[in-house]
Amino acid sequence: MLKIGVVGCGGISGAHVPSWEKMEDVDLVAVCDIRPEKAERYPGHKCYTDFDKMLEENDFDIIDICLPTFLHCEFAVKAMNRGINVLSEKPISLKESDVDLLYSTAEKNKVKFMVAQVLRFWNEYEVLKQIYDSKKYGKLLSGSMWRLGGYPSGGWNNWYYDKKLSGSIPFDLHIHDLDFMLYAFGEPKNVSLNRKELPDQDYLSAVYNYDDFFITAEASWFKAGYPFYMGFRFQFEEAVLAFERDGLTIYDCNGNKIKPCESGTENESDFELPSSDAYANEIRYFADCVNENKPVEKVTAESLLAVLKILTGFNE
Ligand SMILES: NC(=O)c1ccc[n+]([C@@H]2O[C@H](COP(=O)([O-])OP(=O)(O)OC[C@H]3O[C@@H](n4cnc5c(N)ncnc54)[C@H](O)[C@@H]3O)[C@@H](O)[C@H]2O)c1
Repeated sequence: MLKIGVVGCGGISGAHVPSWEKMEDVDLVAVCDIRPEKAERYPGHKCYTDFDKMLEENDFDIIDICLPTFLHCEFAVKAMNRGINVLSEKPISLKESDVDLLYSTAEKNKVKFMVAQVLRFWNEYEVLKQIYDSKKYGKLLSGSMWRLGGYPSGGWNNWYYDKKLSGSIPFDLHIHDLDFMLYAFGEPKNVSLNRKELPDQDYLSAVYNYDDFFITAEASWFKAGYPFYMGFRFQFEEAVLAFERDGLTIYDCNGNKIKPCESGTENESDFELPSSDAYANEIRYFADCVNENKPVEKVTAESLLAVLKILTGFNE
């Protein structure tokens, strides 16, 4: 039974902690947050306000880091130096040099390290990758991805508002779509950026050019209660693949409307993958890598570095 500790019990822990709790082959031993009331939201586990104390008093196989971005690297290194495998929320860091530090620390201590780039575990996005790889609907012509919403409220100590701590929308939000692009389509030839950045709102629209197609991606923290909306639309020679408010749909050139992530629909697809909880999937994947001593192949240092290189240019 793998023994797990979670550090950082704010917003995103609400996706991680229940996933660990539902897994039958793991024991979520302890949770830690400097604000005790945050850790105490998860009864049935030991609660700590001090990460060092949590590490001293327990044996862990995996530490799951759900802390604000600027603390990921320091806490991951500390846990790995104690021989503990680490899963960390994205972004890995705002600094490219931390990628090397983290992977060399993992290697030195013979432990596994993974950044939770959740779109790689999101079935609607996986179907898009499979359709692209298979060429079932011909070549890809263009794509559009979006991740839009209001300024994040509720982050601890307003850390999201400090660009030096959060990296603002390039590192916090747009990173998801960019990471998926590199995973699915490889590195783009070039990128052009338009951005409107004010102290209390931020919007970007970027165009990534590949040899035969281009992808436009938007991200926002608007100064408005705009409801969070993520999705994509990809134009292939023989179909449009759209992940919109009504789920994923393939509109093919014969007039068929196919729902590959819903069971029991009329039109069958070669790419059926039921909608599922991507956070649970990524956590399951990392636990399996640790349990079976398999390499973490789904998220690599090279792709993390390539993403950080592009995003660093966005904030210069
Ligand atoms: N994958 C996703 O879809 C997704 C979504 C949201 C956030 N995130 C990422 O998750 C991370 C956390 O974001 P969040 O929205 O949960 O932030 P948050 O501010 O809501 O939560 C962070 C928690 O860490 C605690 N904390 C701060 N310093 C600490 C310390 N030294 N020791 C222990 N606890 C400490 C805070 O009290 C807070 O409760 C960020 O890196 C963010 O980019 C990912």
